[in-house]
Amino acid sequence: MKPKIGFLVFFLLVASVCSIVESECSEGCELALASYYVKHAANLESIAQYMQSDPDVIISYNKDKIPNKDSVDAFIRINIPFRCDCIDGQFLGHKFNYTVVSGNAYGIVAQTKYANLTTVEWLQKFNNFTPNNIPHVNTQLIVAINCSCGNRAISKDYGLFITYPLMAGESLQSIANKTGLDSTLLQNYNPGVNFSRDSGLVFIPGKDQNGSYVPLKGLKPSTGGVAGGVIAGISVGGVAGILLLSVCVYVVFYHKKQAKVAKLLSEESNELSAQESSVPAESGASGLTGFTMDKSVEFSYEELARATDNFSMANKIGQGGFGAVYYAELRGEKAAIKKMDMQASREFLAELKVLTHVHHLNLVRLIGYCVEGSLFLVYEYIENGNLSQHLRGSGRDPLPWSTRVQIALDSARGLEHIHEHTVPVYIHRDIKSANILIDINFHGKVADFGLTKLTEVGSASLPTRLVGTFNYMPPEYAQYGDVSSKIDVYAFGVVLYELISAKRAVMKTKEFVTESKGLITLFEGVLNQPDATDGLRKLVDHRLEDNYPIDSVRKMAQLARACTQHNPQLRPSMRSIVVALMILSSPTDGILAPSMKIKLSSI
Ligand SMILES: Nc1ncnc2c1ncn2[C@@H]1O[C@H](COP(=O)(O)OP(=O)(O)OP(=O)(O)O)[C@@H](O)[C@H]1O
Ligand SMILES: *[C@@H]1O[C@H](CO)[C@@H](O)[C@H](O)[C@H]1NC(C)=O
Ligand SMILES: *[C@@H]1O[C@H](CO)[C@@H](O)[C@H](O)[C@H]1NC(C)=O
Ligand SMILES: *[C@@H]1O[C@H](CO)[C@@H](O)[C@H](O)[C@H]1NC(C)=O
Ligand SMILES: *[C@@H]1O[C@H](CO)[C@@H](O)[C@H](O)[C@H]1NC(C)=O
Ligand SMILES: *[C@@H]1O[C@H](CO)[C@@H](O)[C@H](O)[C@H]1NC(C)=O
Ligand SMILES: *[C@@H]1O[C@H](CO)[C@@H](O)[C@H](O)[C@H]1NC(C)=O
Repeated sequence: MKPKIGFLVFFLLVASVCSIVESECSEGCELALASYYVKHAANLESIAQYMQSDPDVIISYNKDKIPNKDSVDAFIRINIPFRCDCIDGQFLGHKFNYTVVSGNAYGIVAQTKYANLTTVEWLQKFNNFTPNNIPHVNTQLIVAINCSCGNRAISKDYGLFITYPLMAGESLQSIANKTGLDSTLLQNYNPGVNFSRDSGLVFIPGKDQNGSYVPLKGLKPSTGGVAGGVIAGISVGGVAGILLLSVCVYVVFYHKKQAKVAKLLSEESNELSAQESSVPAESGASGLTGFTMDKSVEFSYEELARATDNFSMANKIGQGGFGAVYYAELRGEKAAIKKMDMQASREFLAELKVLTHVHHLNLVRLIGYCVEGSLFLVYEYIENGNLSQHLRGSGRDPLPWSTRVQIALDSARGLEHIHEHTVPVYIHRDIKSANILIDINFHGKVADFGLTKLTEVGSASLPTRLVGTFNYMPPEYAQYGDVSSKIDVYAFGVVLYELISAKRAVMKTKEFVTESKGLITLFEGVLNQPDATDGLRKLVDHRLEDNYPIDSVRKMAQLARACTQHNPQLRPSMRSIVVALMILSSPTDGILAPSMKIKLSSI
């Protein structure tokens, strides 16, 4: 099957450039809890022995459930504390020792002794005995139990986590009800996990002996000012390195299941975006120090009119499907004001307020709005035009290849942020080169997100109206209006093809517009050849002359192809795309940059 092959290519691409590194976690945490389901009334001593804990300590975490040491009621879960280590740099867990008594098969150890906190497969991985029979009484088995230390980007309020084996009849809602925690939060900590699957582990925030949630430890003080920006910038680089490395590990060891990428990467990647958003927006060239950074701003019409010289033609910098865009000088800062041909409904206003709180280096920031007369949106001004202009506009120097890769990575990060890290999550639905703005340092920023009806993933009330630009639309959306984050992935793939070729997504040949998938068809024709090199060279933007590594172009094209597959489920997530582009943009194209190696050895 062709799409499968495309996907495989995508992973081979990632795998091929990173078979060296093998590090997944760098440090653990002092405390985690294991949710131990007591199936039969049992003696606390024996449970404490399996879990290498102390009955009194266990009781201190389960005061209301275990009134005395002598027996524990059946059919309850108790929380047992343990250390959460980073094991062999590969995963967060703890290795318990279990002394075999007669006839213990792995299944019994996992299911009965350790209450499904581990599995037969996981036991086999750490022990060399034959699967069904562990020969010697009194031999030691290593029982590894996974754990979590939390995730800065999801919430700083939780730093103690329960390793929780799911049981038949449980669901996300039932666990949310039982713990009083928000189901979205629980799902965020367990990305992609089906809580109704009756088995397997999830990680949920737990309480300490005093019955309180424990905040994440070692929070870095929030940075500010220029130095803060620089530090944040540097650590973003470092985290990027770690992310890159961990992906490599992922690919090398687990490249069978794409769905797991998200899970494995969630820690580092979330960390990355958390730090990115903590970079003060006033750093960099497009400074906005005049505005309160955390509050949405409502402007008066008068002020906006003054700032734009009465919306004069001279101030008009663009025209989009929603309205005209004007350059403004507002409260001493540069801004772009979009005058929308519509009135804001109350719901829309509520959504706008949420949008003003989304901050990310690779998203054009919405500063505020005005609702007098029509609707005006006030954005940070991005100095350097849009990607479409850079690729095809006259009077601009051609973007070097490395800049194109950088812009691709920046845009992918912006999209990944709205797909995964905002609440609610958004689907952009109008990704195209005109919506990717270029700042003074030639970094890309995604514009206009959230405008095309903010769509919560999984929400049933999807609008029926199609928005977007035709040649960037995937088939399932154009035909059935199916909305998922994969429609942005598709459009992003088209943008990647544009970056390579500088051709329009909509290509006009003489009289008529070629078939709707112009650019995609063009590249697929070439990529399907046994040796795509010559064909690709012909497609590469001729303004680059010979100044591009063909290998890098090929990988970008393969990534674009993976993104534009017909079947949305086969398209990679924005997160995987970020990873692939990070590898592509590392100075030596995949062989790790020396600075990253240093970073790794210092952690
Ligand atoms: N924040 C901004 N800073 C600088 N220029 C901007 C900004 N926002 C928009 N522009 C310019 O105005 C142009 C039109 O913007 P707009 O987003 O309204 O239209 P579009 O992206 O071309 O189409 P549509 O809105 O229909 O998707 C952009 O392509 C860009 O060149
Ligand atoms: C587990 O057993 C191994 C080997 O017998 C020993 O080295 C290790 O210290 C033990 N760990 C604990 C926590 O008891
Ligand atoms: C562990 O899982 C198995 C199979 O799902 C189940 O039969 C068993 O009751 C579980 N054990 C505990 C202690 O929950
Ligand atoms: C523990 O985590 C590792 C790495 O994420 C995973 O491969 C393994 O299946 C997990 N074990 C269990 C019992 O869930
Ligand atoms: C969760 O709680 C709500 C409100 O109390 C209830 O309606 C719902 O049935 C509960 N769901 C589950 C799965 O327990
Ligand atoms: C989750 O798993 C259950 C049981 O296997 C299944 O019935 C349900 O459809 C799954 N839900 C999703 C969203 O995949
Ligand atoms: C629990 O509360 C007591 C008294 O307030 C305090 O001394 C102790 O440190 C707390 N324990 C934890 C784990 O927070």
